[in-house]
Amino acid sequence: MSLKPLSPRRRRASHQITSGLHRARTYGTRIRDSIAPGGGGGGNDLKTILVTGSSGLIGSEVSSYFHARGCCVHGLDNNQRAAFFGPDGDTRWNQRRLERSLRNFHHNELDIRNRQGILEIVSKLGPDAIVHCAAQPSHELAPAIPFDDFDINAGGTLNLLEAARRECPEAPFIYLSTNKVYGDAPNRIPLKELESRWDYADSAYADGIPETFPVDQSMHSLFGTSKLGADVMVQEYGRYFGMPTCCLRGGCLTGPNHRGVELHGFLSYLVTCNLEEREYRVYGYKGKQVRDNIHAEDVARFIFEFFSNPRAGEVYNIGGGKANSCSILEAFALIADHTGKTQRYTYVDEPRAGDHICYYSDLRKMKSHYPNWDITRSLNDILGEIVEAWRRRAPLNSF
Ligand SMILES: NC(=O)c1ccc[n+]([C@@H]2O[C@H](COP(=O)([O-])OP(=O)(O)OC[C@H]3O[C@@H](n4cnc5c(N)ncnc54)[C@H](O)[C@@H]3O)[C@@H](O)[C@H]2O)c1
Repeated sequence: MSLKPLSPRRRRASHQITSGLHRARTYGTRIRDSIAPGGGGGGNDLKTILVTGSSGLIGSEVSSYFHARGCCVHGLDNNQRAAFFGPDGDTRWNQRRLERSLRNFHHNELDIRNRQGILEIVSKLGPDAIVHCAAQPSHELAPAIPFDDFDINAGGTLNLLEAARRECPEAPFIYLSTNKVYGDAPNRIPLKELESRWDYADSAYADGIPETFPVDQSMHSLFGTSKLGADVMVQEYGRYFGMPTCCLRGGCLTGPNHRGVELHGFLSYLVTCNLEEREYRVYGYKGKQVRDNIHAEDVARFIFEFFSNPRAGEVYNIGGGKANSCSILEAFALIADHTGKTQRYTYVDEPRAGDHICYYSDLRKMKSHYPNWDITRSLNDILGEIVEAWRRRAPLNSF
């Protein structure tokens, strides 16, 4: 497909892009100056944000967060999560919640694999930022649907990047990547076994896994591979074209609006199992495998910081860090503190392929680039919110 002639505004933007990275670093001041500091919406300088995967956990949180700061939010989702995970994965309830509660939220029913559709919607909206959260999100599901997994995660991301380059190259492009881009290489770090968890024995990782950790020559699962393809592409549009892009390599992102299922959404799924007194299956590593957990609103807060002061081709590891990390065994106990119920579980003596034994994110780069940002919700706060949310959703008196 040939490139369309550019409008005068876009010719200017395209010229800026060819001038390189330092240009992208200047975008921030202008965006921050014209954003309403909180609440409201309306006015002539209303910023338009396109959020893909807007009915999912992160997309819906980002939509609410930006809307509360005066942006007009265009959500894009096709409820593909229901196709992945069945009725338990259906996200229409969240779409309706956003449509009911946010005055300047507009839902767009579109599949990110639809290249022409993506080019058209980005051209029509000319958004001031794109936050790309739509994905096939499950490690375990990917091998059953390899074409869908790659076409959505890698191909869909390319569709959005190229549409952004043609139509809104100055707009920050924030991509939700994953810590699975590191494959199982973190498992090569020497570990020590503690009573209820694994931890790094090498002091170089005392603060967690940094962004400089190698991404190749390890086992990723097909999901990790399709996400890594997209991750490198997002970096390249930043480095090669000078666009203000960033990849956020997530640990466990969670919160009360998560509808966890066995194949995706660790804490949320575990809380439902506990409340419904269902058995949870632990796969390998004695249940001492460690994940770091971050509230979706803390993710949205970081995205807003990046949007307000963007850089080009950046990569950040985003998770709860060591302070918000727990092993599966520790999570059982923490949840029981909230619910009063002991978790029933079976142990499968076979780890999931590519699973991390111990992973927590080193947050120092994020904090040094964006000193206004920090974790605001402790693991205990997060669990309390998830337990409350599941109780609210449950039929009366069922827990
Ligand atoms: N939740 C986590 O623990 C976690 C961890 C690391 C990375 N991430 C990444 O963060 C992003 C958001 O994750 P989430 O937990 O909000 O996922 P989610 O499944 O809750 O939301 C994703 C949304 O995207 C939509 N979607 C999927 N395919 C689509 C398509 N082809 N076209 C349009 N919409 C489509 C789904 O219907 C769903 O509503 C994903 O890229 C995921 O890989 C999540």
